[in-house]
Amino acid sequence: MMSQKSIALVTGATGGMGRVLVRSLAGAGNTVVAVARSAARADELREAVAPLPVEVLIGDLSSRDDVFRLAQRFTTLNLLINNAGAHFRHRTVNADGIEMHVAVNYLGGYLLTELLRPALLAGAPARVVNVVSASLADTRQVKIRRRPRPVGLGDLRALTDVNPEAGFTAYARSKLLTLMAGYRLAEELDGTGVTVNSVHPGVVGTDIVDDMTPAYLRLFGGLIKRSLLTPEEGAASILRVAGLSGVTGRYFDRDVEARSSEVSYDRALQERLLAISRPYLS
Ligand SMILES: NC(=O)c1ccc[n+]([C@@H]2O[C@H](COP(=O)([O-])OP(=O)(O)OC[C@H]3O[C@@H](n4cnc5c(N)ncnc54)[C@H](OP(=O)(O)O)[C@@H]3O)[C@@H](O)[C@H]2O)c1
Repeated sequence: MMSQKSIALVTGATGGMGRVLVRSLAGAGNTVVAVARSAARADELREAVAPLPVEVLIGDLSSRDDVFRLAQRFTTLNLLINNAGAHFRHRTVNADGIEMHVAVNYLGGYLLTELLRPALLAGAPARVVNVVSASLADTRQVKIRRRPRPVGLGDLRALTDVNPEAGFTAYARSKLLTLMAGYRLAEELDGTGVTVNSVHPGVVGTDIVDDMTPAYLRLFGGLIKRSLLTPEEGAASILRVAGLSGVTGRYFDRDVEARSSEVSYDRALQERLLAISRPYLS
């Protein structure tokens, strides 16, 4: 939990862990702005957290226009939790032709964070927490094209077309991209009072896990959910990382600092990823 009263922005606020994050942060007296991707989900969230005062902005993280619009709302920010995440069983792309796992789980959060950089610097000490997944720890799940090629707008599309399959592999890869960009951002912001860390909250019984469950196991969905961590337990790990001061550029597996997959530390790949991603900022 942040120690002082802060302005916090939480994406994926309508989901299992997002709601808990919003409730906890607002309950502790922080000013919380939540992002929902539809008006209906925004209303549900307001009801769920009432009577706590929470401003809910509507925005779809797969839409660049929406991300730019969201970022414009802030001149100062103390905490950004990039918590929105999605899993797609079938391959889909956004308006820019980017595979949706990458669009929602990586690029949306990357752009939002970069666009909010001035607000975070204005709010320093400030923290960015990326909610990632331990699935990225398995490099066999994640393939990134290593062959150098010219970098430009549209290359992210090429990068993500290397593994056109949808489902868990694509999900894991998108979380890896978020982790890698987070490592670089932490370095760039070192010494500014803005920290950037990533956390895997554990395997938590929320909608995204329902979606990942193979059809033949879905009959046992209720049972499976009950055997997993609760959203409160998952959110507690995220909040713990959000509360760390003077710690940056780290990856946490729940509450324990951990080493992420080897590929995530590959500086050449990190550089290439950012070179591909930056053009989407303009
Ligand atoms: N559950 C786990 O075991 C687990 C493990 C590791 C990491 N994570 C990560 O934890 C985060 C929170 O997930 P959760 O477990 O709480 O799942 P969840 O209940 O499915 O919540 C996901 C949230 O992301 C939002 N979202 C999805 N697509 C979006 C888009 N295009 N634009 C804006 N928001 C969008 C959802 O909005 P709607 O309410 O409109 O659907 C929802 O608020 C995610 O990043 C997930 O990948 C989860």
